[in-house]
Amino acid sequence: MIEIAASILNSNLLNLGESVCEISGADWLHFDVMDGHFVPNLTFGPMFVEQVKEITDLPIEAHLMVDEPENFIPMFAKAGSKRIIIHAENTVHLHRLVQSIKEYGCEVGVVINPATPLTTIEYILADLDLVLLMTVNPGFGGQKLIPGMISKIKKLREMINTQRVPCKIEVDGGVNWENAATLVEAGVNVIVAGTLIFHETDRKAAVARLKGIVNKGGN
Ligand code: DX5
Ligand code: ZN
Repeated sequence: MIEIAASILNSNLLNLGESVCEISGADWLHFDVMDGHFVPNLTFGPMFVEQVKEITDLPIEAHLMVDEPENFIPMFAKAGSKRIIIHAENTVHLHRLVQSIKEYGCEVGVVINPATPLTTIEYILADLDLVLLMTVNPGFGGQKLIPGMISKIKKLREMINTQRVPCKIEVDGGVNWENAATLVEAGVNVIVAGTLIFHETDRKAAVARLKGIVNKGGN
C-alpha cells in the first residue's frame, strides 16, 4: 500500500488542531521543522509535536531541516516522533546520527536535496527505514515538482532492489493530482502532500481521493 504523509506546513496555523483532525485519514503526519539556517524559513519546535500528539492517533514523522541535527534528535524523539528524518547535506557523520536515532527507538529516514547524488546514501541503505527524496528545494510548501526527480526516484528504486533491502522511498514537494500516479509508477512508497490537501475545502475528501489515485492508479 502506498502511504500518504500529510504536511501541515501550509495549513491554517491558527486552526492547527482542526487541520490535524481533518487529515486523520492519512497514514502519517509530516512535520516540517525549519531553523532559518539550513533553509530560509522558520517553523515548528518539539513542543508542537508533543501537543499535536495529544490530539491525533497518526504517527508523526519529523523532517528536520536544521543545522546541527544532532542537537535536535533527542528533543524530537522525546516529544514522540515515530520517525525522524535528517538531511545528509549538513552532517559529516551521517552513519553515526542514523544509529543515534535508532537508539531512541525511532524509525530513521535520510533526506537528500534535489542536487544531492544518491551515492550519498548508497552505503547506508541497509540501515535506513526510508529515504526521502526532496522533489523541490526545501523551505517552502506550494512549489512545483522538479521534473528531473522522476529519474532519480527510478534510480533509487533500482538501487534498493539490487541491494534487496526493505528501505522505503518517500517524496516531498510539489505532489499534485496530475503527477501522483507517475511518482508511484517510478517506485515511491510514501507521498508527502501539503498544499494539495489544504488548498481543497474538503480536506478529508482530498486525502481519500489521493489515496485512491496512488493505490489504484486512477484519478
Ligand atoms: C518543503 C517541505 C514540504 C512541504 C511540501 O520544504 O519539506 O514537506 O510541506 O509541501 P507541498 O506539498 O505544498 O509541496
Ligand atoms: Zn517536508
